[in-house]
Amino acid sequence: MGQTTKNWWRNGAIYQIYPRSFMDGNGDGVGDLPGITGKLEYLSNLGVDAVWLSPIFPSPMADFGYDVADYTDIHPMFGTLDDFDALVAKARSLGLKVLLDYVPNHTSDEHEWFVESRASRGDPKREWYIWRDAKDDGSPPNNWESYFGGPAWEWDEATGQYYLHLFDKKQPDLNWRNPEVREAMYDAMRFWFDRGVDGLRIDVLWLLVKDEEFRDNPVNEEWKDGDFLPSRQSRVYSEDRPETMEIVREMRSVAEEYEESRVLVGEIYLTLERLMAYYGGETLDGVQLPFNFGLVLLENWDAKSVRSLVDEYEAALPGDGAWPNWVLGNHDMPRIASRVGEEKERLAAMLLLTLRGTPTMYYGDEIGMKNVEVPPHLAHDPQGKVHKSYGRDPFRTPMQWNAEKNAGFSNAEPWLPVAGDHQKVNVEARESDPSSTLSLYKKLLGFRRVSTALGLGAYSSLDGMPDECFAYLREHKGEKLLVVLNFSGEEVSAPLPEGGWRVEVSTRLDREEKASGVVEMRPYEGVVMSEG
Ligand code: GLC
Repeated sequence: MGQTTKNWWRNGAIYQIYPRSFMDGNGDGVGDLPGITGKLEYLSNLGVDAVWLSPIFPSPMADFGYDVADYTDIHPMFGTLDDFDALVAKARSLGLKVLLDYVPNHTSDEHEWFVESRASRGDPKREWYIWRDAKDDGSPPNNWESYFGGPAWEWDEATGQYYLHLFDKKQPDLNWRNPEVREAMYDAMRFWFDRGVDGLRIDVLWLLVKDEEFRDNPVNEEWKDGDFLPSRQSRVYSEDRPETMEIVREMRSVAEEYEESRVLVGEIYLTLERLMAYYGGETLDGVQLPFNFGLVLLENWDAKSVRSLVDEYEAALPGDGAWPNWVLGNHDMPRIASRVGEEKERLAAMLLLTLRGTPTMYYGDEIGMKNVEVPPHLAHDPQGKVHKSYGRDPFRTPMQWNAEKNAGFSNAEPWLPVAGDHQKVNVEARESDPSSTLSLYKKLLGFRRVSTALGLGAYSSLDGMPDECFAYLREHKGEKLLVVLNFSGEEVSAPLPEGGWRVEVSTRLDREEKASGVVEMRPYEGVVMSEG
C-alpha cells in the first residue's frame, strides 16, 4: 500500500478532522481526542491514509485553537498528551498517518512569550513580536488591516506601543525576523515529530514575514461593496514577502532531520504563480504540498472551467518532481455539497480522487454534509462577527454519525447546532446504502489503493469531447485509465479513444460494463474506465 515508503503522502489521501466537531468522548458538547481515537476505524474502513487534526493545543479559543497558548501540550478540553499518544498508537495499528496543525504566524496573547513580551519595552522577549510606535497623531504605524476586520494594530497602554495582529487582537504576530523565534518554533516542530507525528499543515504560511519598512498596502481598485473585506487592500507589504522562502526552507530542513518522511503542507491563498514558489523552485526544498485551493475557489463548475483549472495548475507545477494536490473543502470555506449542489457533489468527489495528486477531504463531505445555518445567538466565529456573510460556523458543525439525538456526536448540547437533516444524512444511514455518496468515496478510495495509474500516473486531458464533458487519462507503466465527467443535466455520448474500455466506477455506482467507440453518459454522471 505504500504506507511505509518515504513518499507515502503522494498516493495517500488526507482527511481533515475539525476536532471540536468530530466526536465527543467525554460528554461536554465539544469533540475531543478520545472521541477521535474511537472513530479511527471508521476512517481506516473509509480508505484514507492520513488524518490531519486542526489545532488541539492549549488555547483561550478566541479563534478556536488557531490562537495557540502553548505549542507543546494539549488543551484539556481535547484531552492529555497521553490521550494523544493513544491516538497515534491506534492510528499506527490501523496503518494511518497523523498530521497536526502548526500555527507559526501568531500565538495567543495568553502565550507566555507574549505575556513576557508585553511586560516591558526592555523585556528579553520584546522582539519576539512586532511592536511599533504610533504615528505622531497617535494613529497606528500603517494602514494594514486585520483579516477579521479593523486595523491590524492594537495599542498597548502599559508600554505605549502598538503590536501587530493580522487576525484577532488576541493573536499577536510573531517576529520571524528574530532568530530566537525561529529556533523556538522549530523546536515545537521537533516536539511533535519526535512524538511520531508524520507531518504538519502549516497555517497561513505566506504571511510569516512582513515588509521591513512597514509600508502602507495599496488600495485594491477592484474591490467592491460586499466583497471579502480583507481584500480591500492589496496586501503586498504585509504578506508573501521574498524573505518567507528562507523560513520555508528552514522548516523543510527540520522535517528532513527525520528518516521517515515528515510531510509539510502549506496553507497558501495566492495566485498560481506565487503558490508554485512555495515548492522551493527547481530544487523543491520548500513544502512538499502547497495547498492547491483551485477547486475550493472555483465558481463555475462546468466542464470547460474545470478543465482549464486543472490544465493550468498541472502546467504551472515546477520541475519534474513537484507533486500536485487537490482540496474540496476545509473549515474556512463553504461545504462542497452546498457550493455545487447535490447533482454535482459526486462529480466533485470523483475529480478529487482521480486527479493526479494528493487529495485532502474535509470531515463530513463524504456523507454529503451541507452548510448549517447558525442563528446569530449561537454563532462563535470571530470572522463572522465582523463580516456577517463570511462566518465559518456553518461548515464546522458536529459530524453526523447516526439518526439519534445530536447525531450521535455527543450526549450533551453540542457547541454548534447539529444539521436539521441529520436523520437522513448520517454515517449509519449512508453506510447501509450501497449507492450513497459515502459508498462512492469508499469505492474510489479503494480503487486508488490498487491502481498505480490513479495513485501516481501521469495526467493528460482529452480533446474532442462534447462541451458538457471533461475527460482525462491517467497512465502508469502500461496501466491506462480514462475518467469522463458529464457536468450537464443532459444525456451525452462521449467518444472514447481507440480500443476497448470498461466502466470500473460510475458516480451512480450502478454499472460496470464494457464500452467501445462511445460511452453514454447520464446527467451529472462521472465514470472511471480501464482499458481492455
Ligand atoms: C488559517 C486558518 C483559519 C484561521 C487563520 C488564523 O487561515 O485556517 O481557520 O482563522 O488561519 O490562524
